[in-house]
Amino acid sequence: MASAIEKVHKGTTIGIVGVGYVGLPLAICFSEKYKVIGYDTSTKKIESLKKGTSYIDDVTDDTLKRHLGIRFFPTSDDEELKDCDYIMIAVPTPIDKDRKPDLGPVINATKTISGILQRGQTIILESTTYPGTVEEIMKPILEKSGLRAGIDFFLAYSPERIDPGNKKNTIYNTPKIVGGIDEKTTQNVKDIYQSVISAPIMAVSNIRTAEATKIFENVFRAVNIALVNELSIIFDNMGINIWEVLDAASTKPMGFMAHYPGVGVGGHCIPVDPYYLSYKAKKIGHTTRFIELAGEINHYMPIHAAYLAMDAMIKAGLELENSSVSVLGVSYKPNTNDTRDSPSISLLEQLSENVRETRYFDPFVPNLTINMKELIGCPSIEEALDSDCIILAVPHDIFKEIGLEEKINKSRIKAVVDCKNMLDKKRIQNIVYKCLGDGDKI
Ligand SMILES: NC(=O)c1ccc[n+]([C@@H]2O[C@H](COP(=O)([O-])OP(=O)(O)OC[C@H]3O[C@@H](n4cnc5c(N)ncnc54)[C@H](O)[C@@H]3O)[C@@H](O)[C@H]2O)c1
Repeated sequence: MASAIEKVHKGTTIGIVGVGYVGLPLAICFSEKYKVIGYDTSTKKIESLKKGTSYIDDVTDDTLKRHLGIRFFPTSDDEELKDCDYIMIAVPTPIDKDRKPDLGPVINATKTISGILQRGQTIILESTTYPGTVEEIMKPILEKSGLRAGIDFFLAYSPERIDPGNKKNTIYNTPKIVGGIDEKTTQNVKDIYQSVISAPIMAVSNIRTAEATKIFENVFRAVNIALVNELSIIFDNMGINIWEVLDAASTKPMGFMAHYPGVGVGGHCIPVDPYYLSYKAKKIGHTTRFIELAGEINHYMPIHAAYLAMDAMIKAGLELENSSVSVLGVSYKPNTNDTRDSPSISLLEQLSENVRETRYFDPFVPNLTINMKELIGCPSIEEALDSDCIILAVPHDIFKEIGLEEKINKSRIKAVVDCKNMLDKKRIQNIVYKCLGDGDKI
């Protein structure tokens, strides 16, 4: 016998607006059970999907092809959204050069939906944004259709929490939050997600609470990463190893959650989202001091890593203007090709102003734009190690598996800066070695 949820949603069609890192896995997840229209303004992405070629690591071509034309229909034609019962928006929410929210993609997507809006449809925003976006920005645009929110059509916010590339916490087993315009909408939206996601889904009392939950989660990360980054510099100068402190503090079973220092923060979320809250808080006369400070510290970290490298090179007797440096890892986190806002880019830019040659090796990233110029990555680790100095910036699993210490010992490298505590110092011989935050003088 069919479950209550299956009965309620039999024949349901889902629309996903924006099939990127968030939208494509979401579309595939719903395609397990429902007809899904995947709408995107990027014709390049839609053409790729129509050919069965995925551009997101978490969605394989085989998985895409399993649903394509059966339950998943990619399109650039917004008219196809007319038949959807639920439309989920997963478009970017960037900041501009002054770190102010750029709601352009959300506004444009909402205008598109307003143009095709049908009685009975439920519109759900998944993009990360400040509290008030759905009701203050989206609702008036949608009501221009002549339909009324909460009467003719329905609104909800359900933030996306996926961590692309994370094999353990996936879209299927990560708990979700839902806040709707009224209780019935919240329940309906909760049911539709629950029908494809095994993790619990928590309903909150309204849309603003759901919006605030997501922004709080990302502010929490930005602030805690900044805290550990700052302490890594202070402890370093006190002769204390932050990595050992973190291991020790992590034995406390309650009240402590380890965050780790590094080259800084990157990606589409942590360096960006907190400023959405700053902007909204300013509107009501508040200054978000934690957010501003965290941003300042995290943005400083690539400069700090560059200083460590230059210091190590000088201690190794190298002349900066005649030296070459390779950065290992340029994505914003391990095991992904995503370089959006990666702090390694800033690190390479800092280095390029001070040394003769900057290069990088990242098995996931063949090329990169540095100082508005394309930089081709070294084709192999051996080529990257044919440098005077290396900086380990991103702890890709592969770097831990290839015996880097031995490779370094056999190379002509004279200085090593390990920003993620990846190497076993005892196995590095006759080379100036510095681990960020290890408390050792070089
Ligand atoms: N990537 C992550 O790890 C992650 C995790 C959680 C939440 N989020 C949030 O999810 C949202 C989407 O992020 P993403 O990483 O998927 O971005 P993305 O750039 O990978 O994908 C967004 C897609 O939206 C499309 N698009 C832009 N404007 C559009 C419009 N008007 N109509 C239709 N399509 C449009 C783009 O072409 C693109 O394909 C952001 O708010 C982000 O903060 C991202």
